[in-house]
Amino acid sequence: MKEKKQNIILELFKPYVPKAVTSRILEGKGSLPSERREVTVIFLDIKDFTHLAERLDPEEATDILNRIFQPIINIIYKYEGSINKFLGDGLMIVFGAPYSHENDPERAVRASLEMMESIERNGEIEIDNKKIKLRARIGVNTGLCISGEIGSPTRKEFTIIGDTVNLASRLQTNVKPGEILVGEKTYQRVKDNFIFSRPHKLKIKGKQNLITAYIIKGIKKITTSQEQKRNFYSTFVGRKEEINILINILRKSYKSKGQIIKIIGELGVGKSRLIIELTKDKLAQNFNILSTDCSSWEQSKPYAPLQKIFYRIFEIKFEDDIRIIEKKIEEKINSIDSSLLFAVPYFSRLLSAKITPLEELMGKSREELNLFIKAATKLFLGLSIQKPVLLVVEDIQWLDDASLEFIGYLYRAIAEVPIFIICSFRKSLQKAEFLSEIKSLEILPLAKDESIKLIKSLIKDEEIFVAIKENIASASDGNPLFIEEITQGIESKKLADISHFQIPDTVQSIVSARIDLLPISSKEVLYQAAVMGRDFELSLFQKVTQIENALLLNILQELKNYEFILEKETYPRKHFSFKHSLIQEVAYNSLLYKTRKNLHFQVGLTIEKTFLTNLETKVEELAYHFKNSNHKEKGIFYLNKAGDKAQSLYAFKNAINYYLDSIKILESTEFEKEQLARLSEIYNKLAFSQSIIGERKESETNLTKALEYCRKIRDKDNESLILMNMGNLYGDMGKWDKAIEYFKRSLLISEEVNNLRRKARIIKSIGLAYLFKGDTERGYKYLKESLTLCESIKAEEIYIMVLNNMGIYYDIVGEWRKALEVYKNSLAISKKNNNIIEMSNTMGNLGFAYSSLNKSEQAIYYFKESIKISERIGDIYNKGINYIHLGEEYLRKDKFKEVKYYISNAEKIFKELEDKLGLADIFKLKAILCKKQKDWERSEEYFKRAIKIYSQQGDRLNEGETYYEWGDMSILKKDADSARKRLIISKKILGSIGARKHLGEIEEKLNKLEKY
Ligand SMILES: Nc1ncnc2c1ncn2[C@@H]1O[C@H](COP(=O)(O)OP(=O)(O)OP(=O)(O)O)[C@@H](O)[C@H]1O
Ligand SMILES: [Mg+2]
Repeated sequence: MKEKKQNIILELFKPYVPKAVTSRILEGKGSLPSERREVTVIFLDIKDFTHLAERLDPEEATDILNRIFQPIINIIYKYEGSINKFLGDGLMIVFGAPYSHENDPERAVRASLEMMESIERNGEIEIDNKKIKLRARIGVNTGLCISGEIGSPTRKEFTIIGDTVNLASRLQTNVKPGEILVGEKTYQRVKDNFIFSRPHKLKIKGKQNLITAYIIKGIKKITTSQEQKRNFYSTFVGRKEEINILINILRKSYKSKGQIIKIIGELGVGKSRLIIELTKDKLAQNFNILSTDCSSWEQSKPYAPLQKIFYRIFEIKFEDDIRIIEKKIEEKINSIDSSLLFAVPYFSRLLSAKITPLEELMGKSREELNLFIKAATKLFLGLSIQKPVLLVVEDIQWLDDASLEFIGYLYRAIAEVPIFIICSFRKSLQKAEFLSEIKSLEILPLAKDESIKLIKSLIKDEEIFVAIKENIASASDGNPLFIEEITQGIESKKLADISHFQIPDTVQSIVSARIDLLPISSKEVLYQAAVMGRDFELSLFQKVTQIENALLLNILQELKNYEFILEKETYPRKHFSFKHSLIQEVAYNSLLYKTRKNLHFQVGLTIEKTFLTNLETKVEELAYHFKNSNHKEKGIFYLNKAGDKAQSLYAFKNAINYYLDSIKILESTEFEKEQLARLSEIYNKLAFSQSIIGERKESETNLTKALEYCRKIRDKDNESLILMNMGNLYGDMGKWDKAIEYFKRSLLISEEVNNLRRKARIIKSIGLAYLFKGDTERGYKYLKESLTLCESIKAEEIYIMVLNNMGIYYDIVGEWRKALEVYKNSLAISKKNNNIIEMSNTMGNLGFAYSSLNKSEQAIYYFKESIKISERIGDIYNKGINYIHLGEEYLRKDKFKEVKYYISNAEKIFKELEDKLGLADIFKLKAILCKKQKDWERSEEYFKRAIKIYSQQGDRLNEGETYYEWGDMSILKKDADSARKRLIISKKILGSIGARKHLGEIEEKLNKLEKY
């Protein structure tokens, strides 16, 4: 009977000898040599099992065997151990023979824990109506032994013998059911990874001395990510010079001289690792280290890498709803820089994804559109006051456009604060001259001796190391990723094979070979993970795979052991990440096209189901997955949504990408009415984003398409919106007649559909267009009409814009008192609404009007107020403009010292912003200053430079005024010819745009000149 039971077990086990093991045995061909080697042996015994099994009928017995042993087999199989013997009530399992892994003791202990857990869970059987719980005892021991084949040539058996084996068996008999006892040597090898009892002294049969053993209590949780990294990465080699360079820069930034650098290098050459090593430096520990990365699928997602950092800064949790998010943001901003509280809605919009309709966006001022970037910059500056900031943005070859703009803006603002920005950048994927002007540090491959050092640290077996180091060093070309990947598992190869072992020539093929070695189920899990992206969140992944949780965790643990993935415990929730993006790329690319599409669809659906209540936060992910699936409908839907979200965040380039993608799919479908309506709408939104970033030709073409589609389906409402957009576009181009034409067509339709708000907006736009065209009186009439309409429909946000346009009118026609009146009115409303941008603009305008009225004191007051607000919101541009105004004001009073002071402040700003018009204003101011100081030559030089820019940029008003000033200078210089020439040009230009400010004076001066 006993014999029979054992046969059942044998049958059961046969197919389960780990594939990796069998294949390695097969690889070895011929027979296995006898050898001494270190092994870890497990004895597992299920108490009384055979005895109890005898009382069962065979069918029942098989059933129980399946239930209890199958999971155990899976576990052994997972850790690549082998079952060496079947003993009466249990098994002898060996790790390290016939083939070994560098962490066999750890594998053995993990397997033991899991087997024990599994038996505790499944071990209940019923015999004679009595429930009995089967319990196991496990002993584990590590040490040298003799391994080899014994038996006759026909019936060979692989076995190991020696004291190590005996002791393991003794340990097992000395432990209580439910416990695992390990010997001293095993303990020494794994004590960092597991929790153990205090040492037990045991007297063991056949041993003279007491031996020491330990009971395993559990797995040690690796707490900090730093610690995890230390355990995880290979010994750091070389890079002394690079580290020094970085530390020097770090030091500078520590002394409030903000720095930025990009680290460039090929895939896997060690950019990320270098940064990790830098962050371990003592000085770096004084920094608030904020690191984030970009990934290929997030290239369109607005502020993708920044979002991750904001989650950390604001301590937002995954499950927080919008109210909690807002509260957290508010509290945190208050503690960093309370003057930024106005920007809370911008941050919360970024993290919660509210969508603003196109029409509302069209009414926003350009200043507002830039506000988020400014506020975020200020936030970082504020953070750096609390503690120096080290901002790491990895893999910027995948940086989205909005973040690119942000980094460009931020680094220009850090000159005097302790911020160090490091961007890493994979060379082969270089985007066209990314931030080309900033310093870069190129990481070159490791030198040969460094490679060898790294190889040595990775291959513990001296013989294997010696046999293969040269091969690896030369094949890897000094790429540490290559070295790491190729040395993975190399020790489990036989020495004899190593000498003619063919090293693959790319790191991709190594990774792909490593993946091929995985058991099929794990491989599949790895592939599925690859579709989710570089990072994947556990609970979501579980839903995608639909693998039972414990089993999935086991598989992930295995993938971790093989260093394919890492576990991360960071915000917002526990997740896993591919150890290197390359592994994800290779796994992803191994998938069949069709499978990949299906998986994307699966992932998309799961996300949809999981995030039902806050889908908006996931639209980019959904857009990505459905775009890559076969489900066109959903792809279009989410791409469009993602575009809207980007546009609402003023991330226009990102929005363009999404809209273009969405259109591409849409145009590949059948056009029915619904598709046409959609196409028209998306083209309109696309055109709007394009017009904002200055892609005017494209914008025009797309508006034409939008118009075409919407006329086919007679969508009036949309048509008027498109026409308005068209009008705005022509206005931006200075084509006022065309703009007016489109506005008027739009007006007609919006009257037809009775959309009053839109009507108010359009009338305002017509008025403004007339003003700029030079038909000031007609412009005034329209503005007035819009104002009345706004009042009657209580459209305050439009009202305030109209007021400011009125101010422009009064300014042009020289009625500054009236200008003051409307500006004050507008200021009151924006104060009431806490609309800080309008406040700042209006104060500047007020200063300007006062200045024109020669009320210098009030002018200076308002300019300075406007500067204060600009500082609060980080609006550097407006600050610069007001510095110029202040300079002009002091120039009028001949206070040259102040003038120079403000000029230099403004100059710094506009140089940093590379703002041409701002620089032209400065040249003009300098020219007038030189004029007053009678430095004719330099004055003329500056006039020329200012005029050149104004004319290039189409700023007629300033061009005309500068000619006037130049003419005036020529008079002082007593160069009548030149004076006449400049004044006439000025008159012509100013006349053509209906600007009266200097016309009288010009006339007077020209008359005087005639008399000479
Ligand atoms: N100097 C080094 N010493 C030891 N190991 C290194 C060294 N540099 C890199 N490595 C190891 O090589 C692997 C690849 O390095 P890393 O991830 O830093 O490359 P990378 O340049 O950032 O690649 P990618 O372009 O994909 O971002 C990592 O596992 C890392 O630990
Ligand atoms: Mg990297």
